[in-house]
Amino acid sequence: MESSRRTVRIGLAGVGVVGQGLVRFLEAQPDFAPAGGRAVITGVSAKDRSRPRQVSLDGFAWFDDPVALALSDDNDVFVELIGGSEGPARLAVEAALGRGKSVITANKALLANHGAELAALAERTGAALLFEAAVMGGTPAVKMLREGLVGDAVTRVAGILNGTCNFILSDMETTERSFADVLADAQAEGFAEADPTTDIGGFDAGHKIALLGALAFGAAPNFAGVEVVGIDQIELLDIRLARDLGFRIKLIAEAYKVGDLASVSVAPALVPLAHPLAQAGGVLNALFIEGQRIGRIFLQGPGAGAGPTAAAVAADIADLMTGAVRPVFQRPARDLTPLQPADPALRRTAVYIRLMVADRPGVIAAVTDALARAGLSIDSFLQRSVQNTGLVPIVLTTQVASEDAIREAVGHIAALDAVVEPPRTIRIANI
Ligand code: HSE
Repeated sequence: MESSRRTVRIGLAGVGVVGQGLVRFLEAQPDFAPAGGRAVITGVSAKDRSRPRQVSLDGFAWFDDPVALALSDDNDVFVELIGGSEGPARLAVEAALGRGKSVITANKALLANHGAELAALAERTGAALLFEAAVMGGTPAVKMLREGLVGDAVTRVAGILNGTCNFILSDMETTERSFADVLADAQAEGFAEADPTTDIGGFDAGHKIALLGALAFGAAPNFAGVEVVGIDQIELLDIRLARDLGFRIKLIAEAYKVGDLASVSVAPALVPLAHPLAQAGGVLNALFIEGQRIGRIFLQGPGAGAGPTAAAVAADIADLMTGAVRPVFQRPARDLTPLQPADPALRRTAVYIRLMVADRPGVIAAVTDALARAGLSIDSFLQRSVQNTGLVPIVLTTQVASEDAIREAVGHIAALDAVVEPPRTIRIANI
């Protein structure tokens, strides 16, 4: 291939923060020295043409319909930065791949839900489908799993994949404010989306771990099989109590093999304060990868933002220029089967349980009896002084047990007369 002098013409759909970052990047640096080619944007499409932007779109052909841009002969590569698992993003990506045009996307929701069909379509028509920007922004987790670690057998990936949640949890701890207050400030300052559900509900991290699990294990992504718990139920009290016990609460995304099945989840978890994942504060993303031969790799960096995410798109453009393109999810689409979730009853974990109890004799004995009846062993126990409500927070951590046993114990505890609100249960990470 005459890659050394090639100019790649880009059709860009979606000109939000990341799209504008890409426009700026390619204006400043159209020559991709390592790949020996040039990349220029020729056409753009966005929902609202007149919306104020920090870059001018005057030099590009305008398309009202992203599908028309995807089908246009005026570009060779379709870059999809619209977002969303359905609607215009899906239609346009299918249109581009269907006619054999390579696609670069940052759309984790689309790939987590429809990745296998899109990979098969791309393979049928000979197009590439690249998505470095979809996970951890500028930090190259996708290439590491798809290419760098293909010689190993990855057994687990686990980390922090949502910067908004990481920022909120960090800020709650440092400013001693409630979840609602910190979220409201983050929205006012533009750190959090006006509709924050995708982030704080854990869905964004769920899409990302579905993709990383698929890449790690050479499988089709299966978002429907991901257990997703967000951070909206985390109280400042739990952050303080966890800290007293030597832990920090983080939103942990994790995928590991259980025989031929997999456990893929996103949920808040307690991480020991000295652990690298507890040290990754603010909007940082961080990831552990465990392989049978390689041992453990730790990766930390920005997971969002115009500059880092545009750099990830540019890395995919460079791969297209050199032809360094691998199967979409590590192995050919015909060999991909969805990651099937392992029975959660087989999962074993230690947990933090926090109770609000009435201050009267015998309560602690009743709580420990409930744990003993479910066969659960206590690792640590902490009782704080009586609050002016007459209630006492009690927090305990258990030793590792099956989630069934934990559920049974929490059920017994919740039924006690002295326990005045539903117990809060948070896993203790084992990473
Ligand atoms: N909203 C995401 C985050 C970045 O907060 O990390 C894009 O996936």
